[in-house]
Amino acid sequence: MKTTFGPQKILFPMPTSLVVTGTMEKANIVTIAWVSLLTSSPPTLGVSIGTRGYSGNEIINNKHFTVNIASADYMTEADFCGITSGKDVDKFAKTGFTKMQSKHIPSPLIKECPLNFECKLVKSTLVGTTNHFAGEILELYMDTDKLEDVNNPGSLITEAFNPLIYIGGAREYRKIGEKIGDAYNIGKNLR
Ligand SMILES: Cc1cc2nc3c(=O)[nH]c(=O)nc-3n(C[C@H](O)[C@H](O)[C@H](O)COP(=O)(O)O)c2cc1C
Repeated sequence: MKTTFGPQKILFPMPTSLVVTGTMEKANIVTIAWVSLLTSSPPTLGVSIGTRGYSGNEIINNKHFTVNIASADYMTEADFCGITSGKDVDKFAKTGFTKMQSKHIPSPLIKECPLNFECKLVKSTLVGTTNHFAGEILELYMDTDKLEDVNNPGSLITEAFNPLIYIGGAREYRKIGEKIGDAYNIGKNLR
């Protein structure tokens, strides 16, 4: 049996991402769980950010941002960036996160996050009270000690990345579970 709830915005699991916009001198961090790859060519990442906070307008004005996937080791800092506003707080100073210079854009990366994207804003669409920002990925960074082969981004060691998982609805953080199969492969058993 199932029960219904009408139009609701509950989805899980989601990666806890930290979106940074600004410059090395003045940058802000916002916690965003609504993040997704949008297109492969060119590689594009989408983030959905409400109009009420500080970050949405900053992205519209700056036209660039970085997306930094938080590890579970930084759960408290990641949560802090989602319950405070850049209007009131210097979140880099408060969390102690380290700014890293990006290669192609002024917005810095967060060194402590094991997976980082530099994005150039290519489209923004306002739906209701949320901006959907499409950012072309200009560069991808991964911690080398979390790769089996430093020349192959696909050789990532999931446990080493230790991503901070957000469960929408329950409003809780979780760690990733064990591997149970090979994607694009296990389904062949039904062929
Ligand atoms: C776990 C978590 C996930 C969140 N995901 C989103 C999201 O996807 N989109 C959004 O607009 N706000 C999201 N928020 C809320 C913003 O992070 C929050 O409004 C923040 O204070 C805005 O900061 P700013 O004013 O510095 O931009 C999330 C907060 C938390 C704690």
